[in-house]
Amino acid sequence: MNLILLGPPGAGKGTQAKVLSAKRGIPQLSTGDMLRAAVKAGSDVGKAAKAVMEAGKLVSDDIVIKIIEDRIAAADCARGFILDGFPRTLAQAAALDKMLTSKGRSLDAVIEMRVNDGELVGRISGRYTCSKCGAGYHDTNLKPKTAGVCDSCGSTDFVRRPDDNAATVTTRLMAYYRETSPLIGYYFCKGNLKSVDGMASIEDVGAAIEGILNKVS
Ligand code: AP5
Repeated sequence: MNLILLGPPGAGKGTQAKVLSAKRGIPQLSTGDMLRAAVKAGSDVGKAAKAVMEAGKLVSDDIVIKIIEDRIAAADCARGFILDGFPRTLAQAAALDKMLTSKGRSLDAVIEMRVNDGELVGRISGRYTCSKCGAGYHDTNLKPKTAGVCDSCGSTDFVRRPDDNAATVTTRLMAYYRETSPLIGYYFCKGNLKSVDGMASIEDVGAAIEGILNKVS
C-alpha cells in the first residue's frame, strides 16, 4: 500500500499516519520529521533547512526529493509507505512519479484531508509532543490520560515546535495554498484523489480513511 496523506499544516496528516502505520505495518515517511532530525543532528541538510523551516517556508525541492528517494529505497518500504508532508510541490510530485515508475511501483491512493483555516491555526498553536518518544498531543483536543505524563512512554518532558506559532502559521498556510494545493488537481486528474472531512474527530477521520483504503486494497 503506497499512500499519500495530503493537506494543509495541522490537518492531521501526522496523527493519522501514525495510526495507519501501526495498523498496517508500513512506515510513516514524514519529511518534516526527517528535516527536524537533520536540524537536531546539525548535518548539512539540517543547516540548509533550519532557517527556512523556522520561517514557515518550503525547503528546496532537491533536498526533500533526495531524502525521499533514499528513504523509499530502504527495506522497510518494500511493502509500502505512508507519505506525510511529501510531495508539496508539483516538481516533487513529478519526481515521485518518476522514482515509483522506475521501481515498477505506483500510488494506491492520495487522501486529501479538508480542514477549515481557523481550525488549523487552533490545532497548530495547541500542539505539543513527547520529547522522548514523539507521541503527539494537543492542549484541548488530545490530552494525555494523566496530565503531564506521556501515555506511550511515561516521560514527563514535552516540546513544542519552533514553527508552531501564530506568525509562522500564516506563512505556512500561504505556502500550502500557493505551492501544495495544486497537487489536489494533479492527483484528481491522475485518478488517485480521495477526500475526507478532516474536521471530524480523530477517530472518525481514521475510520473514513480506513473505509477508503479497504476499497483500494
Ligand atoms: P511538517 O512537519 O510536514 O509540517 P506541516 O505540513 O506544516 O504539518 P503539521 O505537522 O504541522 O500538521 P499535520 O497535518 O501533521 O497535523 P497533526 O497530525 O500534527 O513540515 C514542517 C516544515 O518542514 C515545513 O513548513 C517546511 O519548511 C519543511 N518541509 C517538510 N516537508 C517538506 C517538503 N516536502 N518540501 C519542502 N519543505 C518541507 O495535527 C495537528 C494537531 O491537531 C495535533 O495536536 C493533533 O492532536 C490535532 N488533531 C489532529 N487531527 C485532529 C482532529 N481530527 N480533530 C481535532 N484535533 C486534531
